[in-house]
Amino acid sequence: MTRERFLPFSKPCLGPREIEAVCGVLQTDWITTGPKNTEFEEKFKAYTGAVSAVAMTSETSVMFALFRALGIGPGDEVITPSMTWVSLPNTAELFGARPVFVDCDRDTLMISPEAAEAAITPRTKMIVPVHFAGAPFDRDGFTELADRHGIFLLEDAAHALGTQYKGEKIGASGTAMFSFHPIKNITTGEGGMFVSDDVRFTARLRSLKFHGLGQDAYDRKTFGRSPRAQVLEPGFKFNLSDIHAVLGVVQLDRLEELNAERRRIAAAYRRALTEIPELIPLAEPKYDFVHSCHLFPVRLATDRLTRDDMMAKLKEKNIGTGLHFQSVHQQKYYAEKYGFAPGFLPATEWNSERLMSLPSFPGMTEEDLADVITACKEVLAGV
Ligand SMILES: Cc1ncc(COP(=O)(O)O)c(C=O)c1O
Repeated sequence: MTRERFLPFSKPCLGPREIEAVCGVLQTDWITTGPKNTEFEEKFKAYTGAVSAVAMTSETSVMFALFRALGIGPGDEVITPSMTWVSLPNTAELFGARPVFVDCDRDTLMISPEAAEAAITPRTKMIVPVHFAGAPFDRDGFTELADRHGIFLLEDAAHALGTQYKGEKIGASGTAMFSFHPIKNITTGEGGMFVSDDVRFTARLRSLKFHGLGQDAYDRKTFGRSPRAQVLEPGFKFNLSDIHAVLGVVQLDRLEELNAERRRIAAAYRRALTEIPELIPLAEPKYDFVHSCHLFPVRLATDRLTRDDMMAKLKEKNIGTGLHFQSVHQQKYYAEKYGFAPGFLPATEWNSERLMSLPSFPGMTEEDLADVITACKEVLAGV
């Protein structure tokens, strides 16, 4: 079986409403941070239940502003999974701090409070667990751990818009950051959101995202920034344009519908994979949760071919796959700088060699799904 048209592993779900909304902003005189940012932040708060929110150009920008606000730098340590995207470890490095990598659970790919606790030292300033692929991490366990040690808990919720933990949406309490990169559950092209129940901290982030001025890029009263706004502290230029923000406004309206699609696809894969023992899906958490089904990762468990070969063979059949993630601690810079021995994080390393994300995005048809399953079976059978 070779598909006629390439099936990507993900693609944004944008339609006439998004196109019309962007054109609407382009026809106004205000295309940078303005009323659409405010609307996006307000809607985001209403949806997640967050107390305060600041939109930025990416989740990575949020990390930079946050490291600056917390004064994390040389001599400090930040606990992170190695099974994650490179953003957080890179940000720690760029601020002169040390990312301390912790092994994940072999089947949920999330770090546990116990594993994080074993990595705490007097230099630990922050713990940043990831809600992996759209499943929530053990929030109660991490909150208790962070409180007991007086360490800042930051939730990496890049995959978790719409995810619930014990009946509460991620973002409703604590401090979290989201991404709106094109493969995420909603997209603004590029973008990110900081949320916190500490309103004063959020005000600091709002200032840091725009040069550290005492005023945001847009002030509703002056219809723009006050010309006499003063630098309170040096800040960044991470404000989101209204062209991007308006996409978020429309996509948020569609989020439940989009997430329902992702859940339909995940359920279909889980049914089909009962017939393919060589592809192991992730395990789901034991506590009460709602999954946002951001990704559908599987692990290849066979000695007959490598994961890279399988991805290449699926590509020949016009099926795309993703890799979420390659272990960060084994990537060139980190391996050379810290000299981790093979087997340092066994579960992370085992998964890093075997993971691939199957196509999963709203709008995938039953035929697309059947093609992926047939192609996987054929590749595994050597066809
Ligand atoms: C777990 C995780 N954290 C952080 C990020 C960074 O998000 P952004 O690309 O918006 O900076 C990503 C993006 O893919 C991610 O998957």
